[in-house]
Amino acid sequence: MADDRFDRPQQRERDEPDELKSPIPRPLALLSIALLAWGSWYYFQNTGYPVGAGDRRTAIVVSDTVDGAAVYAGNCVACHQAAGQGLSGIFPPLVASSWVVENDERLIQILLHGVQGEMIVNDQAYNGVMPAFSQLSDAELAAVLTHIRTNWGNSASPITADQVEEGRQRYPEGRGPWNGGQELDDVFAPGEGA
Ligand code: HEC
Repeated sequence: MADDRFDRPQQRERDEPDELKSPIPRPLALLSIALLAWGSWYYFQNTGYPVGAGDRRTAIVVSDTVDGAAVYAGNCVACHQAAGQGLSGIFPPLVASSWVVENDERLIQILLHGVQGEMIVNDQAYNGVMPAFSQLSDAELAAVLTHIRTNWGNSASPITADQVEEGRQRYPEGRGPWNGGQELDDVFAPGEGA
């Protein structure tokens, strides 16, 4: 009978750890390399855009030309209504209004500074508040004014961004609203520049 006393210490030992030696499974290694390659490719494909450009799928500025109808829909339609007909006695119409189709310089000033006080539009008196829209760009104002001068039966000349720019130079930004139709008539001759 063999004496197993000398084998006992050996039997108490644990197995050599072997998991540290086992290699990464090949499919996993290939997947990691593929992902890394794709990630790098994707990164370099997408660099070069300004930080904060945001989600480029949303086209905010489609082109340099401003859509006057869109500016109208965003800023004027609530008061002057979809077809420029206004709301009788409250918001004056833009259709067939001499303020719209006559003197273009005067029209620009109405938009840049707003109007407060009595104003006769198509033989009806209004006494409301037309807000100033000087926060819109020259191109936006030109586009919306051209829109109201050439739609709904109105057919006056277009307004350019340069004209709006000149109008801005003429009076300081904070001059306040025009004091009704009377002040506008005093400063601007009716009928000009249609
Ligand atoms: C909050 C309502 C309101 C908004 C928004 C508004 N307007 Fe007016 N607008 C008025 C009122 C009220 C008057 C008349 C002011 C008065 O009685 O003194 C007026 C007057 C006018 C006039 C001169 C009178 C006429 O009917 O021809 C023009 C032109 C005009 N607005 C264009 C615009 C355009 C263009 C926009 C958009 C960029 C706009 N308005 C946005 C309320 C508004």
